Amino acid sequence: MNIHDFSKKFILNDKIKNIDSYLGLRLSEFLREEENLKGTKVGCNAGDCGSCTVLIDNKACCSCLITLAKVQNKKVETIEGIKKSELFAKLKDSFSYYGAAQCGICTPGMLMASVALLRKNNNPTFKEVEEALSGVLCRCTGYRKILQAVSNVNKRFKKEISIKPTNAVGKRLERLDGKEKIEGTDIFGDDYYPKNSLIAKVIRSPYNSAKFKFGNIKNWKKNNPGVEIILTAKDIPGINKFGVIPNFDDQPALAFEKAKFKGEAVAIIAGDSDTMKDLPLSDFPIHWDPSKDTMDIDEALNKNNPKIHDKDSKDNILIVGKVKTGNIDIEENKAFEIEGELETSYVEHAYIEPEAGSSWIEGNT
Ligand code: FES
Ligand code: FES
Repeated sequence: MNIHDFSKKFILNDKIKNIDSYLGLRLSEFLREEENLKGTKVGCNAGDCGSCTVLIDNKACCSCLITLAKVQNKKVETIEGIKKSELFAKLKDSFSYYGAAQCGICTPGMLMASVALLRKNNNPTFKEVEEALSGVLCRCTGYRKILQAVSNVNKRFKKEISIKPTNAVGKRLERLDGKEKIEGTDIFGDDYYPKNSLIAKVIRSPYNSAKFKFGNIKNWKKNNPGVEIILTAKDIPGINKFGVIPNFDDQPALAFEKAKFKGEAVAIIAGDSDTMKDLPLSDFPIHWDPSKDTMDIDEALNKNNPKIHDKDSKDNILIVGKVKTGNIDIEENKAFEIEGELETSYVEHAYIEPEAGSSWIEGNT
């Protein structure tokens, strides 16, 4: 297949769209950046959070995992496309009544997954709703309100919204900004950036552990007009470390000379959007010298293995803690009985909303 084939088409919110972009482009990126349909959110960009859920031929799909090539001749619907439907109006009322949208970043994804379910089954059980929405994460509601809103959407619920100060206590209050959150028109940090903003790409370590050296970065920049700036650890003023918990504030913003995990950022390249869209990074001047990696606790504790944080620490133990249980009578409290050794890998909390924002100076302040 020719990846620049201009004859491809699909239906987007009832309109025929010619695909004249790169066919490998993520559908989520196409919707948000080229069609300005910001109701489709992007959290993880990796298929984990579901905030990018759209309907493809009536099925709920993560648009961050689908390329434009995959939607040829298919019907794609986003929250903007279903907003006028009767089903959406009912869901909107129900979400509003149950207080199912708090910050609202997951709400478009939740609603798209709900529509996919309700088109097939207009009276789903709580369990069926749970299953249908299980691919969309919510950081705010604890899910209960959302599940109630969807499973009761076709049941009659009593509207008892009141904003009279005399009888406000104990009454449901409709959120003043609820409409925007439910319709996906509320603006989040990643939904806006000033016109002509530079676009950045990050060079990341392909190895779990490797030393690296940059080649002639200045020359590479000269050969790629449109690239405005290249930043490495040397460009970071002050201490190149972050983290808010004492003893954990050891992660460099950009690795310096050694990468300690696969995917660690080592350089940032920023340029105008046209340049950055097609900028190949395979010839970026960096030389990697991979070293033995340390992948589990036993390997890390083995004194013969290299120190991961070789400069600052004596061994590979970052922090030692103790859990105290008090006087639990094991016979009486069987529910608390624990036996054996427990270990877990490091788990980062799930992503919902990108850490993003824009700021600018107005006037002489
Ligand atoms: S699943 Fe697509 S952005 Fe998270
Ligand atoms: S309302 Fe679900 S993430 Fe905030």
